[in-house]
Amino acid sequence: MINLIPMPANIRQSEGEYILPENPTVYIDERLSRMKALLESTLKIKARYQSEGQISFLFASMKPGSYSLSVNAKGIQVYAPDYEGAFYAMQSLRQLFGCDWAAVKKCRFTEIIDDCAEYSWRGLHLDESRHFFGKEIVKKYLDFMALYKLNRFHWHLTDDQGWRIEIEKYPRLTEIGSKRRGSQLHSWKCHEVDFTPYGGYYTKDDIREIIDYAAERCIEIVPEIDFPAHTAAAIAAYNDIACRNLDREVHYYCGGLIPAKEGIKDWNRPICLGSDEVLSFAFDVIDEVAELFPFEYFHVGGDEAPRDEWKKCPRCQERIRKEDLKDETALQGWFTNQLNAHLKEKGKIMIGWNEVLAADIVDRDVVAQYWTPQKDQNVLTHLNNGGKVILSWHKYFYFDMLHTYCTPKGTYGFTAATAGVKDELKKNVLGVEGEVWTEWIADEDHLFFNIASRMPALAECGWSKDSVKNYSSFARRLKAQHKIMDAMGIYYGDDAITMKKDPLRKKYMAKKNGSSIGYFDCEYTLSKLKTDKK
Ligand code: ACM
Ligand code: ZN
Repeated sequence: MINLIPMPANIRQSEGEYILPENPTVYIDERLSRMKALLESTLKIKARYQSEGQISFLFASMKPGSYSLSVNAKGIQVYAPDYEGAFYAMQSLRQLFGCDWAAVKKCRFTEIIDDCAEYSWRGLHLDESRHFFGKEIVKKYLDFMALYKLNRFHWHLTDDQGWRIEIEKYPRLTEIGSKRRGSQLHSWKCHEVDFTPYGGYYTKDDIREIIDYAAERCIEIVPEIDFPAHTAAAIAAYNDIACRNLDREVHYYCGGLIPAKEGIKDWNRPICLGSDEVLSFAFDVIDEVAELFPFEYFHVGGDEAPRDEWKKCPRCQERIRKEDLKDETALQGWFTNQLNAHLKEKGKIMIGWNEVLAADIVDRDVVAQYWTPQKDQNVLTHLNNGGKVILSWHKYFYFDMLHTYCTPKGTYGFTAATAGVKDELKKNVLGVEGEVWTEWIADEDHLFFNIASRMPALAECGWSKDSVKNYSSFARRLKAQHKIMDAMGIYYGDDAITMKKDPLRKKYMAKKNGSSIGYFDCEYTLSKLKTDKK
């Protein structure tokens, strides 16, 4: 059985085989010169442009992003039309060698592979508002994504619990908005708070460094600035962007059931949509972020916006009258359309969570990211009208959830039909994306544990044809991947595939570099739940 994830489009056994020597010579066609720089900078492998090597990267006119691998008596040949294809071939080789490339030793190679992706959008998200991981962990996250040929990093940089990106025109967004007094612990219903001050943000230089790092790995970054709600951190920095000017701090709770003793009130307020100054604020922020990120897609959030403040706000009500809007839902729709028009002028395509479709979104170029646990007819209508969609359904793609709810098997077996998309509309599905919200994910090990089995499942769901997918084969191949995860220092739970028990009680045995490092209590324990109920 071939140890590759995602499963390639086509694999045959070659008649011969080639045993790669230690430290093989590598040849690269000059048309794939970016590959040479990457091999030298990341893997310290010297490649050359003259004469064939024991591994040769050869240029061929093929579908963009595709590659093929074959073997003859002289060595292994990679054929690719571009850097992307060559890069994906390299990821396949790393996996076939069963270790990181730098440690290649006498590997036997017998396959012929022709490969290309099914979906163009194979994404993974990271919420850095609830917890901030910093550049080095984000780079490791990108490395892990690249190993499985994921190509979109959705970077959730703002939310109620912290603003994480420098905006020069509004310095208080990071001076005040990036810091909070403490952090709620464990789970939605847990009332334990760790009052250690918490904070962090990325400067523009940090962001540029990450963008370059991702680009080297064929990953485009979609920034998300969540408007008009999930804005408590921004409002803490600039009180007057809300409907009511109240002095509130960056929110350190994540769960909705806040005990009265905390004295937290009026934290869940959106920005005021009746104020032209607030609209300018949103445009200014978007301008700085859009200029920084080269990718054409820009995520404006739009999820879970409460309406109460807008109902009571004279300015918002005046906007509703002036623009002849039906209600507050239409008010959010008006705002979304303004953001879209603004982004379009900058050559960007807007993405919003599927709630934005509750109002009349005039432009079919808007991409809806379908996440809600409930079926949303608006998404299917949007698809019908030619609109594009990214599928991130909660039960299948929320990797912050317990493995027994969002199972690797569920993620693996998801198809567009699961979300109610008819075959003829599949062409409007850009692809699939896993979400990693970090309310309860506070450190690197927990973060990687949560994606170590579901992200590879997502990768195969997004890359491979249905005809080559097989879950038992995937489960076996995933186990074989642990060796390379060890080499990368990735923390994984060894029973994520087979676990069946109540998630609240489940403790996972986790491993790092092949050794068990103890039981890892994911999210919530039953005893804690019982204590809370008393
Ligand atoms: C979301 O999970 N609120 C998009
Ligand atoms: Zn208002």
